[in-house]
Amino acid sequence: MYKIIKKRELTTNIYLMEVEAKRVAKSCEPGQFVIVRMDSEGERIPLTICDYDREKGTITIVFQTVGAGTKLMADLQEGDSFHDFVGPLGCPSEFVKEDLEELKKKKILFVAGGVGTAPVYPQVKWLNAHGIAADVIVGAKTKDLLILEKEMEAVAGNLYVTTDDGSYGRSGMVTQTIKDLIADGNQYDVCVAIGPMIMMKFVCLLTKELNMPTIVSLNPIMVDGTGMCGACRVTVGDKVKFACVDGPEFDGHAVNFDEAMRRQQMYKTAEGRAVLKIEEGDTHHGGCGNCND
Ligand code: NAD
Ligand code: FES
Repeated sequence: MYKIIKKRELTTNIYLMEVEAKRVAKSCEPGQFVIVRMDSEGERIPLTICDYDREKGTITIVFQTVGAGTKLMADLQEGDSFHDFVGPLGCPSEFVKEDLEELKKKKILFVAGGVGTAPVYPQVKWLNAHGIAADVIVGAKTKDLLILEKEMEAVAGNLYVTTDDGSYGRSGMVTQTIKDLIADGNQYDVCVAIGPMIMMKFVCLLTKELNMPTIVSLNPIMVDGTGMCGACRVTVGDKVKFACVDGPEFDGHAVNFDEAMRRQQMYKTAEGRAVLKIEEGDTHHGGCGNCND
């Protein structure tokens, strides 16, 4: 069992939990995720790791209550436990493996949208701990939906906060701030965008025009999280990929976002899943590593 040692409501319907999960905390890296279950029959909920403390043996997760599973999860209190806390899953962010001296030469721009601010945080924190100050744009619909601003401020080089309605910080969507930064003469070698699918799509359309390589972190529907079920299928370039084992991070300029968003909608209903099965055939693709693609 995985005990919740801290619970905080960050803003309406968005919660932070610090959970005892020694084995996950020992080996996880920025960019990876966990799948949690409240009981043996419960829904499997994938969540990107927001922070980890190897000494304490804890993992911090941030989630928004969107469906029945996350609503039940929000009812859990400090002292309660998760039945399962499986991870770390997926591949760590690319930069974790890069030569540090080469990485230090790069100017990196992070673009975090809404709840996507949570998975951006451990990446910026990791870079900061290795002497790299990345610039960060955090976008939220409105002031009350902004999360982790202070935490991000502590680890970012420059932090640019923007709200769609102009109620706090700059005004407009994250794409407007990217345009402003470039117009002000800033240059970036790479952009990392994490947030709602529609945000990542439009950030990628813009950064393609700007010739700025862009990494996105996809969180499509996931079921098993081990490459077996096919739920998280995405097309990247001309290849079928599975976000849980091949990602969750991909070259944003190669991701077929329209297909990913359509699948996300269709996977919600039994009818939609049946249509996908006809369209895609057997979604099992060998992601388990035991057979060929
Ligand atoms: P949101 O809808 O409030 O959007 C956040 C920001 O994204 C906005 O403030 C805006 O700046 C930007 N944005 C949105 N639409 C845009 C567009 N068309 N063009 C340019 N910028 C745009 O975000 P939210 O309500 O927090 O999002 C929730 C969604 O994010 C859920 O669907 C969830 O699954 C997803 N999410 C994704 C990840 C991930 O790893 N990719 C992590 C957490 C949540
Ligand atoms: Fe099943 Fe990725 S969640 S293949």
